[in-house]
This record gives sequence, structure tokens and C-alpha cells, in this order.
Amino acid sequence: MVYDSIPRTVRILLLGEPGVGKTSLILSLVTEEFTEHVPPKAEEITIPADVTPEQVPTNIVDINVAEQSLEQVGEEIEKAHVICIVFSVENQETLNKIATYWLPFVRDNSSEEFRKPVILVGNKIDLIDYSVIDNIWDIAEEYPEVDRCIECSAKSLINVSEMFYNAQKAVLHPINPIYSIEEQE
Ligand code: GTP
Repeated sequence: MVYDSIPRTVRILLLGEPGVGKTSLILSLVTEEFTEHVPPKAEEITIPADVTPEQVPTNIVDINVAEQSLEQVGEEIEKAHVICIVFSVENQETLNKIATYWLPFVRDNSSEEFRKPVILVGNKIDLIDYSVIDNIWDIAEEYPEVDRCIECSAKSLINVSEMFYNAQKAVLHPINPIYSIEEQE
């Protein structure tokens, strides 16, 4: 993504199918422990600059499609700097929905010139003993705004802080500047 200047805060939005563990990931990050019963939606939280690796205040925003209209979710996409689309590694349908629903929905709510970086997050790796990351490369090829993919577990606290750190890095140090291909031609 190309900014005129580096943003002074990073706003991270978590999207994805119900039950994939969005709220659990946020609460595991904040409390450093897994809670079995989480609210439908985490309150927006702000991580102060001095406890983030990049020293940039970071807002983390959860969604709950049962409680929010698609219009409200679209408004959150507009406000976000980076979007983490979460799926559950043991539920193929939640991975399928990334390409069939969530990535197009993010595009529909973003400016064409300026695609927001997207991180694909495979949660619940504590439930499987193999990696699903190979199933994601086709999606990443089709959608160049996909900046990074990461597997994690809110329950076992594996890669949870790394996931949020990767989201910060996608905004502050993009691997590849993301331009709209249509715009360049
Ligand atoms: P919605 O609020 O419906 O959008 O769901 P969500 O994506 O916020 O998922 P939530 O955090 O509510 O988690 C759904 C269920 O998955 C809960 O029963 C969690 O305890 C469980 N869960 C979340 N993360 C993990 C994980 O890493 N491993 C396992 N085994 N279970 C998890």
C-alpha cells in the first residue's frame, strides 16, 4: 500500500466467518490467556505505542455479522489500514469464503487505486497436525492485496502476537507496494 506519509496509528480490522475465532484472538492477545466463553464482539481496543514493536498506537476492531449490518462492516473496512481475514484451519468452508465472499467484499468497500493490505489468518492450528498454508497461495496470487498468510491458535497462544505484528508491518513496511494493476496500465 502506498501512503503519502506513514500513518500515526494503525487500525486493524478482523473479518471472517462466524466462529473462526476473531474475538478469541483479540482477547488472547490482550489477556495472554485463552478464555473459552468470549462475548460476540470485542470492544475496540487501543494498544499504546510503547508496548507495540513498531512503537505506533494500534487500534484493533472486531466485527460480528449477527449484530452488525453489512453497511456497518463496510464502514469499518473504509476506516481500517489493514484487514485480517480469519478462517478456521479445520473448517474448509471458512477458507472457501475468503475468495468467494470476503476478499470481494473488501474490494467493494475500498478505493480501487489504493488497495488495503490483507493478512490471511488460519486460526485453531491446535486442532490439526498439518499445515493448510499451501491451499492459500492460489488466493494470494489472484488477490495481490494479500500481503501475508499466517497460521495461529488463540487457544494455544501460538503466533497470536505475531499475527498482529504482521498486520502492523503490512501497513508500516509493505513487502510490495500494492497498486491497482488496472490503474498502472
Ligand atoms: P463470531 O463472534 O460469531 O463472529 O465468532 P468469532 O470469529 O469471534 O469466534 P469466537 O472468538 O467467538 O470463537 C468461536 C469458538 O471457537 C469459541 O468456542 C472459541 O472458544 C473457539 N476458538 C477460538 N479460537 C480457537 C482456537 O485457536 N482453537 C480452538 N480449539 N478453539 C478456538
